[in-house]
Amino acid sequence: MTRSIYLDNAATSFPKPESVYRAVDHALRHIGANPGRGGHRPTLEAGRLLFEVRESVAQFFHVTDPERIAFTSGATEAINIALFGLVRPGDRVVTSSMEHNAVTRPLRMLQERGVQVVKVPADARGFLHPAAVREACSEPTRMVVLTHCSNVTGTVEPIEEIGPWCRREGILFLVDAAQSAGLFPLNVESMGIDLLAVPGHKGLMGPPGTGCLYVRPGLNPLPLMYGGTGAHSHSDLPPLQMPESLESGTLNTPGLAGLKAGLDFLLTQGTAVRSHESALMEQLIDGLRSIDEVELYGPLDPLFHGGVLSFNLAGRDPSEIGFLLDHQHGISVRVGLHCAPDAHRTIGTFPRGTVRVSPGYFNTPEEIDYFIASVASLASHP
Ligand code: ALA
Repeated sequence: MTRSIYLDNAATSFPKPESVYRAVDHALRHIGANPGRGGHRPTLEAGRLLFEVRESVAQFFHVTDPERIAFTSGATEAINIALFGLVRPGDRVVTSSMEHNAVTRPLRMLQERGVQVVKVPADARGFLHPAAVREACSEPTRMVVLTHCSNVTGTVEPIEEIGPWCRREGILFLVDAAQSAGLFPLNVESMGIDLLAVPGHKGLMGPPGTGCLYVRPGLNPLPLMYGGTGAHSHSDLPPLQMPESLESGTLNTPGLAGLKAGLDFLLTQGTAVRSHESALMEQLIDGLRSIDEVELYGPLDPLFHGGVLSFNLAGRDPSEIGFLLDHQHGISVRVGLHCAPDAHRTIGTFPRGTVRVSPGYFNTPEEIDYFIASVASLASHP
């Protein structure tokens, strides 16, 4: 076995575009100062870089005011800020049965503090029906929290139908875009998104340790962390205005430089990213369908399918299949529950989980053929 094929882009995209590696290296070597600290030229240069990253992120998600974007370590921190910063004991939150633990666990902790959490069940393919969400909001509700695209089934949820309805009803709408940012267009205005949690290291092609939270004007989440912000240093109270209110401590400037390079790369590729990944997904679905022993999950329609596909081989443990794909065929996939046990309960794969394959922009049709042939070979040699 000499091949090494990475098909776990839902966990983190790899490799990154060359420009991302160069941008991180350049920032680490040449933009060494801490942004927003003092007035010397290097700190101003670092501040300028962060200003540009914020502008690029804003442009990408159709955010009018870049200052409404706070940088975070990833989507998990962004979701935690939105939930712990805006939901209070006695509030009611509606979510779904397809969420990642990044949503489920903070909500569970809030439940312990007296927040009522209602989980709307999705159907067996992972689809959430807007009418069911509306029905769940029949009592006064503070927030609806939904994933845009399941990290288990790849199901793309109809957030563009749910967000504007929430806006009209005065219910906050938080979207977990962990698996969709970079792959599907996201427009916070037309989709009625009040809070958007985004990882930098997946579809946006940036380095791990980057991400952001968009907060719509008029909302002021309490921070999770308090500390130095480089401004208002005379006061022992934290600044109230965004983004400083949510960005205590030193930011990950080299990582964010890489994130900007990732965004620039995506902008130059345009719709080619989605077209390529959708074509690979179609190839995967068709190829795996042709193997009798394969059980497939999710929408199985490239139109409603993000970049992940879950399957099992009848009667086999997913962790055994993942191990053999890795050790005999040189293929990296993720197996098990993918930090989303509720999603597996929904599609009937709890507790054993599934084998999850998630191609990225740099995978080729030839690699997908090899993957399908490898699964076929494992299926025929139990
Ligand atoms: N949330 C990431 C995944 O689904 C890590 O693998």
